[in-house]
Amino acid sequence: MLISGGQRATKRWARDWLDLQPGERLLDVCCGTGEFCQLRIADCGLRNGEEHGGEAEYLGIDLNARYVAYAARRYGVAGGRRAFRVADATRLRLAPGSFDKALFVNSLHHFPDDLNRGILREIARVLKPSGRLVLIDMAGDHPGRARRFFLDRDRGRHLRPLGAQLALVEEHFAVRRYGAFDAGFTPQTIIAATPRPAARE
Ligand SMILES: C[S@@+](CC[C@H](N)C(=O)[O-])C[C@H]1O[C@@H](n2cnc3c(N)ncnc32)[C@H](O)[C@@H]1O
Repeated sequence: MLISGGQRATKRWARDWLDLQPGERLLDVCCGTGEFCQLRIADCGLRNGEEHGGEAEYLGIDLNARYVAYAARRYGVAGGRRAFRVADATRLRLAPGSFDKALFVNSLHHFPDDLNRGILREIARVLKPSGRLVLIDMAGDHPGRARRFFLDRDRGRHLRPLGAQLALVEEHFAVRRYGAFDAGFTPQTIIAATPRPAARE
């Protein structure tokens, strides 16, 4: 996982680029311990500090049963609008076109190309045609010595330059926007994309 206190910045960027609307369904792929399940609240789930109805629904999936159990214990179900499930992201048992938005965070650089391809294909399948993927990963482009120190201590062994990240996403998505930001000591890339029609068949 990411080494730094930068998750706050990552959450802010994810929230802004997802732009969740009340009633939308968000799928968090490879959700780990569920760190990103409360994003929607900042946008549309909290009014005067109270959760209200009509907010986005969240489903976090991860292969690691211990992470999923921890996430469910820690973050609960929020009145049935939040769920965590053990699942293989390359074989999601979810209906085509059943989610509005998807999040794929801090994971790309942990996986080889083929695994990422399988995951991205599944995300494209379960998103609505107008749906949006927001992918955030570590930036592999010439990070400089200080940043290199932190990147080298991350467990991901598949760090890619932005161009290679975009190429993977573009196999199943049309990229709408991309950029970069700093999360503490770790440079991050962020990509927003819409599923290509062919990917959904
Ligand atoms: C680096 S963590 C990212 C967790 C989370 N997105 C975050 O930012 O805190 C990568 C996650 O991918 C999960 N994972 C690995 N292979 C998977 C697969 N085939 N299907 C679903 N999850 C998988 C791991 O269990 C791990 O929790």
